Amino acid sequence: MISKVVKCPKCSYKTTVIGESGKKIIITCPKCNTKGNYLFPEEHQQLTKTSDSIAIEVNGLIKTFNGLRAVDNISFNVEKGEIFGFLGPNGAGKTTTIKAMLGLIHTNSGEIKINGYDIKPSGKDAKKFVGYLPERVAFYDNLTALQNLHFYAEIKKSSKEDCITLIEEFGLSDSVNKKVGTFSKGMVQRLGMARAILGSSPILILDEPSGGLDPRGVVLIRNKIREMKNKGTTIFISSHILSEIQEICDRVGIINKGVLVAQDTVSGLSKKLNLKPKITVELEKMSDDVVASVKKVKGVDKVEKIGKSIDVICDPKTKAKVILAIETAGGNIINLYTREPSLEEVFMRFTEVK
Ligand SMILES: Nc1ncnc2c1ncn2[C@@H]1O[C@H](COP(=O)(O)OP(=O)(O)O)[C@@H](O)[C@H]1O
Ligand SMILES: [Mg+2]
Repeated sequence: MISKVVKCPKCSYKTTVIGESGKKIIITCPKCNTKGNYLFPEEHQQLTKTSDSIAIEVNGLIKTFNGLRAVDNISFNVEKGEIFGFLGPNGAGKTTTIKAMLGLIHTNSGEIKINGYDIKPSGKDAKKFVGYLPERVAFYDNLTALQNLHFYAEIKKSSKEDCITLIEEFGLSDSVNKKVGTFSKGMVQRLGMARAILGSSPILILDEPSGGLDPRGVVLIRNKIREMKNKGTTIFISSHILSEIQEICDRVGIINKGVLVAQDTVSGLSKKLNLKPKITVELEKMSDDVVASVKKVKGVDKVEKIGKSIDVICDPKTKAKVILAIETAGGNIINLYTREPSLEEVFMRFTEVK
């Protein structure tokens, strides 16, 4: 299923339609009742950036609890087909923002649109596009995994077979007929992911999907997220596991104390902070001459000796000069790796306690 925003040729009213790629439907304009045909584009055209390329729009969102601003005037857009990472320390306002995006809590002010639908007057329509994994996943404890999923399958117009396939994909085949009340936290989380994906909604909103999972579960979910992106799904993911996010996200937003302090690609944020890559050079034999020689190179910020290796933080264009300095000082290089600035460094800088 794909969703498209279409404009009425008579009154220009914009409405969102969902259907299968390559299929034709008849639409009636909700405003002026004009009827017309609409042909859904083939799947590969789905990701082209047009004016209706935004999946989630949040504008000036404010939410206070007892007078304190948990979310303080946040605005961002998530493009269709991208993975947007929403990061912030505990209590930063991630879950509150997500709940507001889904119309689950009242907000003080701000506008939120999901696939062009304002969630205030059209919450039901907007939610049709979304598969949601809440921070605290809850199921009916006295129903089995399959019975629980089947309950949601009716809402999402999916089949029992889809439920079984997803339960298997999330590694719960042995527990398909076990009551969810007997599940571990990680198993409930896996079932929660299966529920979010059920019905192949065009937008996935995942609040800390790695919570309570073992490393195998983390990899499983990361691979599933990649697979969903390849199918054209828009994914909004909040997480504190920064290395996970760095690998899969197209863009990230960093929230601190309710304020969105940064949003860009990870490399864009690194550039803004002037974070430099770290080069690790492994030598056959370490010598003080080598360290002194590297320290003298213009553009080198920091040199650290660790056993037979040295870590050098410098401009990317200084790398060749560093190698030359090592060799000139008699160092014999065995291995060399470059590590780009990590999201963790970016995150720490943007959320520094001032
Ligand atoms: N229902 C609530 N009542 C009062 N305060 C709340 C409520 N929900 C969240 N908060 C407060 O709002 C802030 C943001 O919380 P939350 O959005 O859950 O953060 P995060 O998901 O980033 O960890 C925190 O200070 C939290 O204590
Ligand atoms: Mg949270």
